[in-house]
Order: sequence, then C-alpha cells, then structure tokens
Amino acid sequence: MIITSKQFVVSNSDPAKCPKVSQPEYAMVGRSNVGKSSLINMLVNSKGLAKTSSKPGKSRLINHFLINGDWYLVDLPGYGFAKVSKSERERWDRMITGYLTSRENLVSVLLLIDARLEPQDIDLGCVNWLGELGIPFVLVFTKVDKKGGRKVRQNMKLFREAMLETWEELPPMFVTSAETGQGRKAILDYIEGLNGQDAVVSAQ
Ligand code: GTP
Ligand code: MG
Repeated sequence: MIITSKQFVVSNSDPAKCPKVSQPEYAMVGRSNVGKSSLINMLVNSKGLAKTSSKPGKSRLINHFLINGDWYLVDLPGYGFAKVSKSERERWDRMITGYLTSRENLVSVLLLIDARLEPQDIDLGCVNWLGELGIPFVLVFTKVDKKGGRKVRQNMKLFREAMLETWEELPPMFVTSAETGQGRKAILDYIEGLNGQDAVVSAQ
C-alpha cells in the first residue's frame, strides 16, 4: 500500500467522542514505551505525526489518525507504567475498555510486544483480555534492531508456547523495527487486505 496522506484528526479520553464509526480502524495496544506511537510514524513515513518519548507514559489519550483519507490508525496510552496512581490506572481501564467495546469499525488491534523480553505476564494477560472481549488482534514484536535475531526468535517462540497453553490458534505475527522500517510492508499489506474485505462487506 502506498501512503498518500496522513492526518491527525482528534484526541480525546471519551470513546463516545471518537470519529464516526464509518471507516475501518486499527488500534495500537501495548505496554508503555513498547513503541506504539513510533510504529504509527514508521508505517506512514512520518517523523512526528504521533508523539513519542523515551520516557514511558507519553500517550495519555485516544488519538485518531486518518490515513489515505479512508482508514484510521489509533494510538492508545500504554499499560504497565509503574509510576501511575490507582485512580489513573482505573481511568485507563475505563477508557480503553470503553474504546475497545464501542468501536464497531475496529477491524483489528495491533498488540505490541517488546521483542527483547521473554514473555511478560502483563502482555499474556492482555492477550487473554482481548480474547475475552472477542477483539481480533495480531502480535507485533517491536525493537528488533536492538537485539540479535536469535534472541528475538527465541522470545517469539516462548511467547507462542505460552499462548498455546490456553489458545488453540495463534494470531498473525509481525517482526518490526521503527528504526529500520522492518515489518512495514508486511503490516501495510495485511491492513490493505483487511480494508479490502471491509469494502466488500459494506458494499453488500
Ligand atoms: P507510551 O505512549 O508511553 O505508551 O509509549 P509508546 O508505546 O507509544 O512508545 P514510543 O513510540 O513513544 O517509543 C518509546 C521509545 O522507544 C522511544 O524512545 C522510541 O524512539 C523507542 N523506540 C520505539 N520503537 C523502536 C524501535 O523499533 N527501535 C528502537 N531502537 N527504538 C524504538
Ligand atoms: Mg505513545
């Protein structure tokens, strides 16, 4: 897919105020600092469309970006950020659960996993939570430029094994680097395929 336009649309904490559910959308979910905002920028060839930071806890709101005038990438705040109060965490839960359960146009979540780490309970918990909510998702392993390929493959294998303890089927998986652009084409092709299916469904 060629990216012809990208545009920030709206930022808010209330899922009810997100854009009309008329276009397919894809949301970034994952731990704080895993690279959600960076992945959006990498996918659309932008340096600063989504705000990134070396400190966790940068993105605090639901951010909608309209791509090529007809589908959305959605940046969400991360989970698992230690320096957050209980009330802030509850606010996150309400906001994200409200978002995930109210967007009929949410085609898939991209669940980002830091490829440098062995499977983390908090990420496996998120996988199971998405399963309980019935939200389709893919796994995106990030920051692969920071670790040797062998270690990345080993961590991915451990993640697959951990999932297979409770899941019968595994979701699609992508290996990415926001630094080198690795994985960009594979994710955009995947989204293009899903957008096409959506067009077929809405034309019927
Ligand atoms: P929150 O908004 O806090 O939830 O974080 P986030 O998941 O949006 O992470 P963000 O994109 O802000 O990236 C966090 C840090 O990781 C930044 O310093 C990025 O430059 C860095 N980073 C993200 N992706 C990559 C990657 O693929 N490779 C490398 N080397 N650094 C990355
Ligand atoms: Mg962010």
